[in-house]
Amino acid sequence: METLKEKEAALQKSYMREVRMLVEDAEKRRGKKLTYHVTTFGCQMNAHDSEKLKGMLDEMGYSEIESENADFVIYNTCTVRENANLKVYGRLGRLHSYKKKNPDMIIGLCGCMMEEKDVVEKIKSSYKFVDIIFGTHNLFQFAQLTLRRLQENKMVIGFEADDNSKIIEDLPSRRKYSFKSGVNIMYGCNNFCSYCIVPYVRGREYSREAEDILSEIKALADDGVKEIMLLGQNVNSYGKTLAKPVSFAELLRKTEEIEGIERIRFMTSHPKDLSDELIDVMAESKKICKHLHLPVQSGSSELLKKMNRHYTKESYLELAEKIQKRIPDIALTTDIIVGFPGETDEDFEDTMDVVRKVRYDSAFTFIYSKRTGTPAAGWESVPEDVVKERFDRLLNEVQSIASEKAMAYEGKTLDVLVEGINEHDSSLVTGRLSNNSTVHFAGDESLIGKIVPVYLKECKGFYYLGERK
Ligand code: SAH
Ligand code: SF4
Ligand code: F3S
Repeated sequence: METLKEKEAALQKSYMREVRMLVEDAEKRRGKKLTYHVTTFGCQMNAHDSEKLKGMLDEMGYSEIESENADFVIYNTCTVRENANLKVYGRLGRLHSYKKKNPDMIIGLCGCMMEEKDVVEKIKSSYKFVDIIFGTHNLFQFAQLTLRRLQENKMVIGFEADDNSKIIEDLPSRRKYSFKSGVNIMYGCNNFCSYCIVPYVRGREYSREAEDILSEIKALADDGVKEIMLLGQNVNSYGKTLAKPVSFAELLRKTEEIEGIERIRFMTSHPKDLSDELIDVMAESKKICKHLHLPVQSGSSELLKKMNRHYTKESYLELAEKIQKRIPDIALTTDIIVGFPGETDEDFEDTMDVVRKVRYDSAFTFIYSKRTGTPAAGWESVPEDVVKERFDRLLNEVQSIASEKAMAYEGKTLDVLVEGINEHDSSLVTGRLSNNSTVHFAGDESLIGKIVPVYLKECKGFYYLGERK
């Protein structure tokens, strides 16, 4: 029997065929190929959603080009910090100038920013040249909205989907790399960290069925994929709400069994839910990469409480130590927010202390950004100059520890998955170690997608120059 999801997927595919016919007509009329470009802002989730958008655009008959001066341009937006929003508004002006020269151009905005009502209102009133708007929950309606836009010739906006069609399993997707791919294991977030907009724009946490995930990974492996990245805002709470609960560690064990997959990564691990079972699975695995991204956000127990993170400085340090003992060659990386409301000098010193104790292999450092609608938005902010000074100090510390840690691998020979030709020097290829560090070494296109041993001849701080062994 056809399920609701299958029905919805079939319906969306029929819209893709209808658009394709219109695109083919337009190509004949205009005597040229219709082109598209998708620009992604934000995290791995968005990058993965963009691959789905591209798959659907291919299916609808458009051809991808490098430039944003295309017949169909989509901005897949992020709203996690204010800067992310400003970037989008800034770049819309340029798209408008392209559209003035190409009136048939379609401009689509989607992603997290479009889940915010006031953003959509602002675009409706001040950016009338935008053609299609839809949020993360309406991604699967993309073809339907495109068809409506082509038929009605006015701005179309995504509409509420009923719950059953929320996760469409069977839509086309186009991978950026032939040999690696993201795989969604869950959507949304239930954690409501007090500074974070994600739970409001991505909705409630929702795990995919393990069988669906595993069969997607099998299909990817059959298609030549060697490395997968399991994606979710808090992968450690995967599977808890499924009818037949499955833990994240169990999912990893089953993923490990899939032939052809050689490297497994995942993002993001919330420290509060990281189980001993997961540490065991990672320690015993031959495929799970020696890298764990474990966002700390702050080193101050008091601030962590205000952030609603459900761990303390001490429990985080204990956890990090336990992981490092059990998996000595693991690379730990993190996210840190500086200038969260109420952050005192003492709180900040706690953050510096955690950085020095854990010795992260790398860290993303962010200046706190007020997100309207989150609890912290109403709390008193830290003066800008104080934040700036702390941020610079933190960045210095993070960078000097990271380069010391990287130096320790100099002279070793480790496996590298080759990702592509070096952007600056075409006699080199660029790839990644299991711990996610970048390596450049002499090689050619034939190596792309292969895992090869490389001697790490020289550490350049954030990357290595190597030689193939
Ligand atoms: N789910 C992940 C984080 C996703 S958002 C987790 O819990 O770790 C990525 C990072 O953006 C966060 O880890 C946090 O460091 C940062 N971030 C989120 N909201 C922010 C805000 N309002 N201001 C500054 N940084 C923020
Ligand atoms: Fe945001 Fe916290 Fe959810 Fe991460 S866990 S997405 S920081 S609310
Ligand atoms: Fe940004 Fe949305 Fe990811 S807000 S960080 S793109 S989940």
